[in-house]
Amino acid sequence: MNTPKGSAGTDGQLPNNLEAFWMPFTANRQFKAKPRLLTSAAGMYYTSHDGRSILDGTAGLWCCNAGHAQPAIVSAVQQQVATLDFAPTFQMGHPLAFELASRLTTLLPEGFDHVFYANSGSEAVDSALKIALAWHRVRGEGTRTRFIGRERGYHGVGFGGISVGGIVNNRKFFGPLMPGVDHLPHTHDLARNTYSRGQPEHGANLADELERIVALHDASTIAAVIVEPVAGSTGVLIPPKGYLERLRAICDKHGILLIFDEVITGFGRLGSAFGAQHFGVTPDLMTVAKGITSGVVPMGAVFAQKKIYDAFMNGPENAIELFHGYTYSGHPLACAAALATLDVYRDQDLFARAAELAPVWEEAMHSLKGVRHVIDIRNIGLIGAVELEPVPGKPTDRAFRAFLEAYEKGLLIRTTGDIIALSPPLIIEEHEIGRIVDTLRDVLTHLD
Ligand SMILES: Cc1ncc(COP(=O)(O)O)c(C=O)c1O
Repeated sequence: MNTPKGSAGTDGQLPNNLEAFWMPFTANRQFKAKPRLLTSAAGMYYTSHDGRSILDGTAGLWCCNAGHAQPAIVSAVQQQVATLDFAPTFQMGHPLAFELASRLTTLLPEGFDHVFYANSGSEAVDSALKIALAWHRVRGEGTRTRFIGRERGYHGVGFGGISVGGIVNNRKFFGPLMPGVDHLPHTHDLARNTYSRGQPEHGANLADELERIVALHDASTIAAVIVEPVAGSTGVLIPPKGYLERLRAICDKHGILLIFDEVITGFGRLGSAFGAQHFGVTPDLMTVAKGITSGVVPMGAVFAQKKIYDAFMNGPENAIELFHGYTYSGHPLACAAALATLDVYRDQDLFARAAELAPVWEEAMHSLKGVRHVIDIRNIGLIGAVELEPVPGKPTDRAFRAFLEAYEKGLLIRTTGDIIALSPPLIIEEHEIGRIVDTLRDVLTHLD
């Protein structure tokens, strides 16, 4: 695609020039040589630029939990843009931002009373890290500046997020990162936990590594531990039974805040509103994005326990309490989309639907055991992973080819390393679950 600059425009559904867009997390040259463009979406399906129907096995990027083009969300956004396109939330406000925050707190575990808005998961994570640092400081524990993340964790791409995150390629190009960060070991244990259904049996003891890290640095230097309740982007790592409970107990013992990054586990993915409820473990701060608007308008948020917010509400009443925020924090379009999305989740009972479908999903996923190249399958809620034997010396190659083949056969999957990750919209029907699995079986059987 070496078309000159002047030829911007489209030829049918395909732009004349694909060069200018530097695509994120994409093999740009491969893509531009053989593009895959999506041009419309409704329900469970995308339409590709060449007119094919593509079953969405990944809810876009783990975000379109309500499926595509839900009429109530579409019309809420359309009406909002014509009514109030933008309003600042620095020393000003607009009604929907308050309405949404109150509404969100009704879905949250006991004690969560406050919402800080961002525009993405990455911003939500950086906001939560800053809130944790500032909270310790305003309480007179300003020595607590360290963060503990986890190997293979994904917390977005801001400097805070990649520092506490543990994905090598997301870190190694970007210098020394944020200082004062340590990492727990990841919990992926193929030797002991293969073909787990739901939470794996082995690995709760890995949480005890936190005690070792605390002993090394001293608790008085540690602000917070951040983990994904289920790690998604790294290839679906499900917490071993008892693991999150132990992390919570150790954090409590040492006065360390526990942050759950619920950017993918939030809004029904596990069959409960949030992972916190699903696992029965309550963090101090939660980060969300994606499903908050079902992906329709960018939005992220930090949910804070009352004790966190209250600690800031000191000092003169006309003084700003937290020097942090984004121009688009609580953007009217995002708030309108989120409120309508929450209506859809409630009216269509989508979280319960995810819980009901989870056993069907589990059976379907595990029916791929024994298929060529498959070395593990794991699932929880409406999340599934199929791990493939890597081609020797060519990590990621086999899974990427599976992704390309699946797309040719009308199925959108997501791959990371040699792992296929699946996370369909919560509106999926049983026959579509069957189609995902049949397509994958076909693809893998014919793949080198
Ligand atoms: C757990 C988690 N945190 C943060 C992010 C980053 O979100 P965003 O891409 O909206 O910045 C993601 C994205 O996949 C995620 O899965």
